[in-house]
Amino acid sequence: MSDPILTETQRRRTFAIISHPDAGKTTLTEKLLLYGGAIQLAGSVKARKNQRKATSDWMEMEKERGISITSTVLQFEYQDHVLNLLDTPGHSDFSADTYRTLTAADSAVMLIDNAKGVEAQTKKLFAVCRQRGIPIFTFVNKMDYPGLGPLALLTEIEDVLGIRSVPMNWPVGDGQDFQGVFDRETRTMHLFEKTAHGASRATVERVSIDDPSLPGRMGKAAYDQLVEDLELLEIAGDSFDIERVLKGELTPVFFGSAITNFGVELFLQRFLAVAPTPQPRLASGVPITSEQPFSGFVFKIQANMDPNHRDRIAFLRVVSGRFEKDMEAMHTRTGKRLRLTRPQRLFAQDRETVEEGYPGDIIGLTNVGAFQLGDTLSAGEKIAFDEVPAFPPETFAMIRNKDAGRLKHFEKGITQLCEEGLVDLFWDTRAARREPMLGAVGRLQFEVVQHRLGIEYGVPTLLEPLPFEFVRWIDGPQEVIRAIYWGDYARPAEDAYGNLVVLFSSAWAMQRLIDEHAKVTFSTHRLARVAV
Ligand code: G4P
Repeated sequence: MSDPILTETQRRRTFAIISHPDAGKTTLTEKLLLYGGAIQLAGSVKARKNQRKATSDWMEMEKERGISITSTVLQFEYQDHVLNLLDTPGHSDFSADTYRTLTAADSAVMLIDNAKGVEAQTKKLFAVCRQRGIPIFTFVNKMDYPGLGPLALLTEIEDVLGIRSVPMNWPVGDGQDFQGVFDRETRTMHLFEKTAHGASRATVERVSIDDPSLPGRMGKAAYDQLVEDLELLEIAGDSFDIERVLKGELTPVFFGSAITNFGVELFLQRFLAVAPTPQPRLASGVPITSEQPFSGFVFKIQANMDPNHRDRIAFLRVVSGRFEKDMEAMHTRTGKRLRLTRPQRLFAQDRETVEEGYPGDIIGLTNVGAFQLGDTLSAGEKIAFDEVPAFPPETFAMIRNKDAGRLKHFEKGITQLCEEGLVDLFWDTRAARREPMLGAVGRLQFEVVQHRLGIEYGVPTLLEPLPFEFVRWIDGPQEVIRAIYWGDYARPAEDAYGNLVVLFSSAWAMQRLIDEHAKVTFSTHRLARVAV
């Protein structure tokens, strides 16, 4: 009899979609969900926009700004597979959040607008995937719209992103002249017929390249062009090589049109056939594989998922074994055993209790205050995953509470938002009263904090930019540290966990102080929180 954990692991694909805003990520997500039967009706994008952006965009601010700030996890089934789709934030200021989300993914789908090619945000997100070394699949969207042409697009992908590409299918025409895509594996032409938006499946007619009726159906000129293109691809193009795909050296490229639902199912089937199953993760350098006892790590924390229930959810990626509701696991950082009650599966705003989970699954844990980013849970030996890094902030601001009557809410709000990893929190300890300072990778994160403090905690705030650009965590003999004169270009403070830090306003000021104090260590990351 086959091992149920192995069978369940092999059924799963955990992936993220990366794209520049407006490339069609919402639309593609919706169509994928539709195939999985996860939503009954994919109302047209227009109808959605009138209500709210999409099933996966639920935060008010996302609706206002039209950008996806926070990642959502969607799980759905398609044929024999279980898909875990991680939604990544689209804005560059959220790259730390994106990186953390990608630690939970085993592959990424890069969505490109046929008319715009590789855009700024695609580049940044691609770079993050590269860093993670995960396989990248490309979907060129909006073929029903006039575009740059498939050859130019492939050249751009290779030149700008530096990854080789292999078209899995090949489009014929674009815009008004879009005729469909040729599937290279089965050597069949999938003819495009426009359907009303929202139809669950596009009417696709498949005709073999050897069918004598094909030139007549497509028109001789289009057919001849296709034959010529295919010859060129055979001679000059890379061939499909799964090893290179898995190493992130080669990206399989699919063409289609999400809004008309064309090419989405073809993509989905091929993607499922070749995308990696849930992969092991390293714990202190040692790979933890799926058949080991239950283990997982927290890659995301989100407060106030549901404004009616002031709760916080820690998202755990299962790495090994079987997760069961109410099971006990060792919480490595605290060294305590924890009962995992009320585990949740999130589906945008809706949630349901999870009874069990397998490697690749994402589980929402509701144990209030128990988790920090990067925490490991394990039912077997005490281990600590190396996956989730901390990102040193590069921009800083003072945040002040404008409503003295809501001080408690203010402090709770900034503490919780900091636990999500949205910003880093530092306390200015020089003043008589400790004053909070925020640090972020990008300034937009401050606005998000301000907005959420207002909406979720009812606290109006004022932001004052600070002139600092760097932070270092410091350690060394206390008497030496206490005696240091920091001057005007550096400010000592404490991080949210009580560690000593110093903020610096310039690289030279920082270097001078580092050089002057050899007995003190200055590190770019918070000192390790986890000791095994
Ligand atoms: P995003 O999540 O990546 O930001 O993109 P989203 O799906 O919201 O799509 C952005 C725009 O692109 C939407 O139009 C959407 O209808 C359109 N779109 C998505 N896929 C396709 C496609 O395959 N072909 C064409 N032609 N358009 C596509 P919009 O004008 O912003 O919204 P609306 O007017 O449709 O409401």
